[in-house]
Amino acid sequence: MFDKRKIVEEFGLSEHIVIYHGDCLELLKTIPDESLKLVVTSPPYNIGKEYERRLKLESYLEQQAAVIRESVRCLSRHGSICWQVGNYVDNGAIVPLDTVLYPIFRNLGLKMRNRIIWHFEHGLHCSRRFSGRYETIIWFTKSDEYTFNLDSVRVPQKYPGKKYFKGPNAGKYSCNPLGKNPGDFWVIPNVKSNHVEKTEHPCQFPVELIERLVLAMTNQGDWVLDPFLGTGTSIIAAIRHNRRGIGAEVVPKYIKLAKDRIQQELAGTLRTRPMDKPVYDPIEAGNSLTVAPWANHNISRQLLLIKERKVRYRTK
Ligand SMILES: C[S@@+](CC[C@H](N)C(=O)[O-])C[C@H]1O[C@@H](n2cnc3c(N)ncnc32)[C@H](O)[C@@H]1O
Repeated sequence: MFDKRKIVEEFGLSEHIVIYHGDCLELLKTIPDESLKLVVTSPPYNIGKEYERRLKLESYLEQQAAVIRESVRCLSRHGSICWQVGNYVDNGAIVPLDTVLYPIFRNLGLKMRNRIIWHFEHGLHCSRRFSGRYETIIWFTKSDEYTFNLDSVRVPQKYPGKKYFKGPNAGKYSCNPLGKNPGDFWVIPNVKSNHVEKTEHPCQFPVELIERLVLAMTNQGDWVLDPFLGTGTSIIAAIRHNRRGIGAEVVPKYIKLAKDRIQQELAGTLRTRPMDKPVYDPIEAGNSLTVAPWANHNISRQLLLIKERKVRYRTK
């Protein structure tokens, strides 16, 4: 059933991959009630990226509410909806978008299951506040009978081989041999310049982030929708695990990128960061650039000038 998958433009229950070039609300109108198992997305944050028009926060939230309402209509009773967001910044003051989006989901009768912190190391260096190094995924379900395949996404414990050494269980594993629950704090590199998945899109999901959600919240053959598809990451994560993927995107160059990446995924040639790869640790890797200049007695001339305020260290 998964051998002859091809990309089509219109939703049909028997299709596998749908990419709609246009507004997500138009696509959502074509999807029957309760036919999707997972809606996962990272919407525009209303911060003036090239693909969005900055709106008043109230208008932005109304737009988001319309997409969320339609997504919930299309969501199966056993389904999940995950909205991945960061901060909206208004004249230097931050508004964490999950806090203002939460009431929209709650008023639609959804139940929140987790607020996942996605921590990463790279991003803008702020000079008037601490640099932002996490975003959140807010996960809601439509009912209490939702799909949750915990065993599919377990991760190794700190001491996976640990066994009871006495008592009636002596010799048996003292923790689940399948691994532990990954928790709600996920350390996954974001897609910046050196990441193997980087394209020209400014804010791609890493595939591994969505793979974990797909594996946990859907079964084979289920539909996964990303209303703000970008470079097609959610569809890639879905089809990699024999789910079906659908998404909408308004910008032609991102549609092309998404199609190219999905074709590569189908051909088995798309390079991605594996789900189980540990995060790079420069000290463990023996990188010679890990000694801080101020810890070095031969302090460099450049650092001296910065310290004496003779040259400015510029940040955004
Ligand atoms: C934050 S990005 C998502 C990137 C995506 N997660 C990925 O991995 O590439 C949001 C995307 O939504 C698209 N977009 C904005 N408004 C849209 C709309 N009304 N319908 C569909 N796509 C839209 C933007 O062009 C942008 O590519």
